[in-house]
Amino acid sequence: MTGRRRLLAGAAAALVALGGALAWWMLPPRAMDFAGDGAVALADYRGPSPVGVPAELAGASLVARGKYLTEAADCEACHTATGGTPYAGGRAFITPFGTLYAPNITADVETGIGAWSDADFLRALHKGIARNGQRLYPAFPYESYTLIADEDVKAIRAYLFSLPPRHAPSPPNRMKFPFDQRWLMGFWSLFYNSDRRFAPLPERSPQWNRGAYLVEALGHCGDCHTPRNLAQALDNRRKFAGGVVDGWRAYNITQDRTAGLGDWTDAQIADYLRRGHTVGRGSAGGPMAEAIDLSLSKLSPGDIDAMVAYLRAIPPVRDRRQAAVKTAPAADSHRTMATAAPLGAALGKQMFEGACVSCHGWSGQSLITPDATLVGARSVNDAAAANVALAVLSGVQRPAPSLSMPAFARAYSDAEIAAVSNYVTARFGAKASSLTAKDVAKLRAQSAP
Ligand code: HEC
Ligand code: HEC
Ligand code: HEC
Repeated sequence: MTGRRRLLAGAAAALVALGGALAWWMLPPRAMDFAGDGAVALADYRGPSPVGVPAELAGASLVARGKYLTEAADCEACHTATGGTPYAGGRAFITPFGTLYAPNITADVETGIGAWSDADFLRALHKGIARNGQRLYPAFPYESYTLIADEDVKAIRAYLFSLPPRHAPSPPNRMKFPFDQRWLMGFWSLFYNSDRRFAPLPERSPQWNRGAYLVEALGHCGDCHTPRNLAQALDNRRKFAGGVVDGWRAYNITQDRTAGLGDWTDAQIADYLRRGHTVGRGSAGGPMAEAIDLSLSKLSPGDIDAMVAYLRAIPPVRDRRQAAVKTAPAADSHRTMATAAPLGAALGKQMFEGACVSCHGWSGQSLITPDATLVGARSVNDAAAANVALAVLSGVQRPAPSLSMPAFARAYSDAEIAAVSNYVTARFGAKASSLTAKDVAKLRAQSAP
């Protein structure tokens, strides 16, 4: 080879390597690739159907089945403004690329989806394309909904069309250039939306397959719990290793024993999903509490158990920053503090004594309700402490019979909330956090859209 040829060959090899690396980065595995090959089309699967509604509802009307599936897919959480009519839209999504609003999906012809046919609706959920042909942003999790069986999508539409139509135009989106160019989402979909329906794995149990359908297709758990790549697509190489949503940390729910759910019992996971409480493991706040109240609490016990069975199969992803959860209660006295003094310790203690101790106790084992036990909760053991600060800012409002926690956003400054959060992680968690007033200001902005 001449020097020139060698150079060309070298350049070509480098290009191929670069292209390979780019393709590897561009094409993360699909949601269920971790489970191996062997998936078969639904029509060829011989076991009990993993799609549709649970046996209890098998004979129910199309609308009743649609209601169950709509709840399992939690369409209401995003398509309802705070205090607004369910499904009438208007909730803001603040993204790094601008703000967009979830549209009205009631059957109003002018401002909702009243004119949409089954085919239009299928195309939106499976391909992320609106009735007018416009591409939709993946803030609408069609990357997951693409797995929902056609029959189930039609049942969801039937349910939405059974509700009273509501005239409610959506506020105009404010996306920055070039992200306001919807056609670009066509390329995004090419890489990241498989546009394939759920395919069961015959070598796994029927319960596992039902759980996979509920978790991956309807429940879209990965939308919050899977980290994203630079293109904002789910990075399934680190499936369920933890993500961030409206400032809240959606924790690692892999089977890792320290960072994830590996040492939770089946009953503990089921309890958390059904009620948002597991004594000794903490309570759900923010977007997870909403997912439980609007969606998971309405599922049948069998479906919750199926989700647990599937979660058990998720490969562990370690996270060295996440310390083992501290399970021992703190001393039952204000005089003792086991760990070194955290940032703003004196102020933090004063705040805790004034605003928190009556419900949470010095030991972290609440006297008023076991649901307010702070000992063992991931939030107080997470040194980022974002969820503690957000719980203090926005409170935790749960339906009765659960007790709620008031919001303190108006009552306290950023510095005070940082101090009390640092005090709480130091007192009850494995490692003290060091939140600053600036960190809390950022969380405050995200918590009140
Ligand atoms: C995580 C939040 C989220 C969830 C959950 C969600 N959506 Fe959406 N949806 C959005 C957003 C945001 C948009 C607007 C996207 C855009 O403007 O490109 C949207 C758009 C849509 C559209 C297009 C409407 C139009 O006028 O163009 C339909 C239809 C839709 N969603 C139906 C549903 C259904 C049915 C469900 C439940 C199965 C659901 N969505 C769940 C956030 C969500
Ligand atoms: C009126 C009683 C009350 C007061 C006052 C109160 N809380 Fe709470 N708090 C609760 C309850 C009840 C829950 C559990 C809510 C639920 O999920 O049902 C909770 C939940 C929490 C959580 C989430 C725990 C987890 O498992 O992740 C944190 C953190 C927290 N509180 C911290 C505080 C701090 C800090 C203060 C003082 C600034 C405070 N709370 C004041 C009642 C209270
Ligand atoms: C809208 C976003 C969102 C969705 C969707 C969501 N989660 Fe969560 N999840 C969160 C957040 C945020 C937390 C942390 C809550 C807290 O600290 O109060 C969480 C916490 C959890 C926890 C407790 C983890 C721990 O260590 O304490 C479990 C288990 C969990 N989610 C399972 C699921 C499953 C299963 C699904 C799908 C059915 C799901 N989540 C869907 C946001 C979400």
